Amino acid sequence: MEHRKLKAFPAGFLWGAASAAYQVEGAWDADGKGPSVWDVFAKLPGKTFQGSNGDVAVDHYHRFAEDVALMAEMGLKAYRFSVSWPRIFPQGRGEPNEAGLAFYEHLIDTLIAHHIEPVLTLYHWDMPQALQDEYGGWEDRRIIADFEHYCVTLFQRFAGKVKYWVSLNEQNYNLTNAYQLGTHPPAVEDRKRFFAANHIAFLANASVIATFRRHVPNGLIGPSFAYSPAYPGSSAPADMLAFENAEELTNHWWLDTYCFGRYPQAALTWLTETGEAPDILPGDLEILSQGLPDFVGVNYYQTLTYTGNALDGVTLQRINTTGQKGTTPASGIPGLYKTMANPFVETSNWDWAIDPTGLRIALRRLASRYALPVMITENGLGEFDQLVAGDRVHDDYRIAYLKAHVEACQQAISDGVQLLGYCAWSFTDILSWLNGYQKRYGFVYVDRDERDTRDLRRIRKDSFHWYKKVIASNGEIL
Ligand code: BG6
Repeated sequence: MEHRKLKAFPAGFLWGAASAAYQVEGAWDADGKGPSVWDVFAKLPGKTFQGSNGDVAVDHYHRFAEDVALMAEMGLKAYRFSVSWPRIFPQGRGEPNEAGLAFYEHLIDTLIAHHIEPVLTLYHWDMPQALQDEYGGWEDRRIIADFEHYCVTLFQRFAGKVKYWVSLNEQNYNLTNAYQLGTHPPAVEDRKRFFAANHIAFLANASVIATFRRHVPNGLIGPSFAYSPAYPGSSAPADMLAFENAEELTNHWWLDTYCFGRYPQAALTWLTETGEAPDILPGDLEILSQGLPDFVGVNYYQTLTYTGNALDGVTLQRINTTGQKGTTPASGIPGLYKTMANPFVETSNWDWAIDPTGLRIALRRLASRYALPVMITENGLGEFDQLVAGDRVHDDYRIAYLKAHVEACQQAISDGVQLLGYCAWSFTDILSWLNGYQKRYGFVYVDRDERDTRDLRRIRKDSFHWYKKVIASNGEIL
């Protein structure tokens, strides 16, 4: 199987790169924007790496034309970005803020003028603080109508211009941090509240997808899922069971609900026994099954390897946010599973497994189980980058990472996966939510650090020139 001739990337393959509003825009209170939960949370002492926040970020709000010009120079075919909900509805609902809509309209028009397909994410974690204050955001079903009103405003405005839409970005990762680990706003650590909020987010996601069909009949929509495919620590039956438990509770819990409209059975049974299952009201399952996606968006960074976990074993633990290698503790659910290091793969300085084969496996699992097209909405390597003389950044480690993962995409395509596109994370350097500005992902270096915004100069890294060739050759030259 490994030695056959690989299929070429299809014509029209979306070679892309991605970002998120809070991580790049800055201009946190410009032109009528309201505060998001991140605008407030990041300013609380001790919440983010060295107190970094997105007030200025990389100032994409004011420099988007320069950024899009760099995308055009690179030959990018798609740019995935998110809309900041409180830029459109400063209070979360009501009348839209025209200045906010106009910003995204300019961005979209500039992309289209450069033949770059806009891929619009509706929600990348920056909930209007007003809705968090009023009813607790995702913990109250009123969010469903407010989210829908916000999304319909964007559908109506951009239906003719934007074909690809992402509903919720990494609901699994964001809400796990927000309601189990206490590391994203509103910083709750309560598993029952987590599953309840997560259920409401599913309902919001499905409702918006159902509504999308009426407003954007020719568009395609799907959520972006943070997919870390599970591996068993060994072929010991206990490890296999731990792996099954983890795959069901950390992956199928979301993917099945998005794509089948129902929760996976063993996990639901377990949570019902512990009293942590969400309240599934009459009509909820209909809502879920009426809002199935057109594609699965996958944010792939790493695989996770699992072994058994005693009843008094480790609980869910916070991840490495310093870049000090080897500081990530084992993490899991007592009685079900815990993570362990995979001796067969290298890791980044943030202890994330570097596993391109895992991407091929991820794509195949998704395509086989859900029979849907897939779009890679994020994939990349967060590392310390060094700006050296002559305004150069020699990020050969990033090129190696991306090259291996693009090869894995081609293998998955050859395996029969319908892959719509590949959006590297990220285009420019961004603010990493909990890791500050030192964990860099971009093709374009931005001259700033945690404390000093310096001149925010854009500098093409070596990976910029590499990806340009990949795109120009439609993936033939890697
Ligand atoms: C995903 C997010 O979790 O991965 C991005 O959608 C994020 O917003 C990216 O930046 C990388 O994670 P991190 O924690 O290294 O920034």
